Amino acid sequence: MFAVQAAGSNVTTIEGVGSAEALHPMQEAFWSSHGLQCGYCTAGMIISSMDLLRRNPDPTDDEIREGIEGNLCRCTGYHNIIVAVRAAAKAMRERRRCTACPSCCRRSRRNRWRCKRWRSQHSSAPASGGAKIRV
Ligand code: FES
Repeated sequence: MFAVQAAGSNVTTIEGVGSAEALHPMQEAFWSSHGLQCGYCTAGMIISSMDLLRRNPDPTDDEIREGIEGNLCRCTGYHNIIVAVRAAAKAMRERRRCTACPSCCRRSRRNRWRCKRWRSQHSSAPASGGAKIRV
């Protein structure tokens, strides 16, 4: 995709995902499942995987492979990346059962990241919106 094709869109980079104090569940899963080695491919893997889970919260291993197919990893052999995405999917599904707020979280996932009560209940939620770029 060329940058000009994103005109008028919101673009979230890896810097906008989680924070040093509070990793996003996908980052947490890559870390705990050893889904990275040198880290060169990790930003793309995480962003692609987050997009996959946004569209399909419970993907099969084949669907995960298809979801990350545009990214090449020279280190991991992909096995632990698949394990990490599966673990993140499970963690993110469990997060959807939020009890912090009876209204906004249930209407839109996007609202959860803005909800102070939700963020306080889910300690790994980012404290701020991070680096989101308006193109
Ligand atoms: S972790 Fe090194 S290229 Fe993927």
